[in-house]
Amino acid sequence: MRIALIAHDEKKDDLIGFARNHEARLAQFDLIATGTTGARLMDATDLDVERKASGPLGGDMMIGAEVATGDCEAIVFIRDVLTAQPHEPDISALMRICDVHDVPLATNLSTAEHVIDGLAAEHDLD
Ligand code: PGA
Repeated sequence: MRIALIAHDEKKDDLIGFARNHEARLAQFDLIATGTTGARLMDATDLDVERKASGPLGGDMMIGAEVATGDCEAIVFIRDVLTAQPHEPDISALMRICDVHDVPLATNLSTAEHVIDGLAAEHDLD
């Protein structure tokens, strides 16, 4: 039970709000995150998060590798689509590998709510 949490800078507050709302559920998963997102999550919550490299330095690809090996079962990736990202190719690659392996990928908060509800039901969590 391992899921990844990622947010672009302008969306990190949104992801933290989501993580706070679902902290009890999220605590039951192994959590991974890109570097800055992971640090912010651990500052703002009691969640334990394995931090990969920062997104622009390869963190999205590290998470994509876990998707490819079947180790990551879902991703919440709250993207800032109004700002150009230097690592756009890595972001596209992460989304692609999720589609290759049929791994749920929520790119906005509304979908993230459905994904967390689905995971909780699937794993019989409160
Ligand atoms: P960060 O990376 O959590 O290190 O900011 C996120 C991203 O931009 O992909």
